[in-house]
Amino acid sequence: MAKQTSVEDNGTGRRVHLRIWRQDGQELPETRRLEEFKVPYLPQMNVISALQQIQKDPRTADGKSVAPIVWESSCLEEVCGACTMLINGRVGQACSALVDKLAPNGEPITLAPMTKFPLVRDLVVDRGRMFEDMKRVHAWIDIDGTHDLGPGPRESQEQQEERYPLSRCMTCGCCLEACPQYGPQTKFVGAFAVNLVRLYNMHPSGALHKNARLESVMDEGGVQDCGKSQNCVEVCPKEIPLVDSIASVSRDATKRLLFGWLLK
Ligand code: SF4
Ligand code: SF4
Ligand code: FES
Repeated sequence: MAKQTSVEDNGTGRRVHLRIWRQDGQELPETRRLEEFKVPYLPQMNVISALQQIQKDPRTADGKSVAPIVWESSCLEEVCGACTMLINGRVGQACSALVDKLAPNGEPITLAPMTKFPLVRDLVVDRGRMFEDMKRVHAWIDIDGTHDLGPGPRESQEQQEERYPLSRCMTCGCCLEACPQYGPQTKFVGAFAVNLVRLYNMHPSGALHKNARLESVMDEGGVQDCGKSQNCVEVCPKEIPLVDSIASVSRDATKRLLFGWLLK
């Protein structure tokens, strides 16, 4: 007789063990708790698909029915940054974190929210400060009105190749989570924002606002607050040369500080 496949374990018998730090909100630290779940293993499973399995029947490993876990995701291909969380203590994207790599022998996988941003609930944090800091550093190129301005300045192939790696930022927050200088106690904008200053200042049209961008990182919380620990570059999932960006913006800001008065 053919072996009957159990719906619960997909016939493999393998279960994925998740330990999830939960909390009902930033102002409710007394609700912080660790809950454990065991869900059926699926081939090529990532952490998001494991969370989706829990979602179908939110029940802990010891059978207790609990509120559904709250997490964020969108693109599911490491492009939007929404699913960023701590996975076994390391910050990264849940959609590209493969269960086979994290737990080849069924080890538990521990999930927690990032710690540098206000907690919304469970695994979701509010990264709004990142978007405020993008406004601070003028992280866009201005288009003056809707009338035809004619062709913009041309960018050489070499310039495009130099700028492209800097443009891969998905505002995931990994570099900020890992940065010892970043957090609610400081105004430091962090590596991602400094990198955006470099990206837009290198653009032929963006360079029109080069000085405004530089000045935005010359005050408190600016590039001089970087402690040069280089944690940011270690964790950036897009391998953006953040340390080079910090050094480059730092040099430009120093020049602006020393010689800017000549241009006034
Ligand atoms: S610089 Fe890298 S780590 Fe930082 S927000 Fe952008 S993609 Fe994420
Ligand atoms: S070099 Fe260190 S202090 Fe500076 S932004 Fe990166 S992680 Fe933060
Ligand atoms: S869901 Fe977009 S990066 Fe993971």
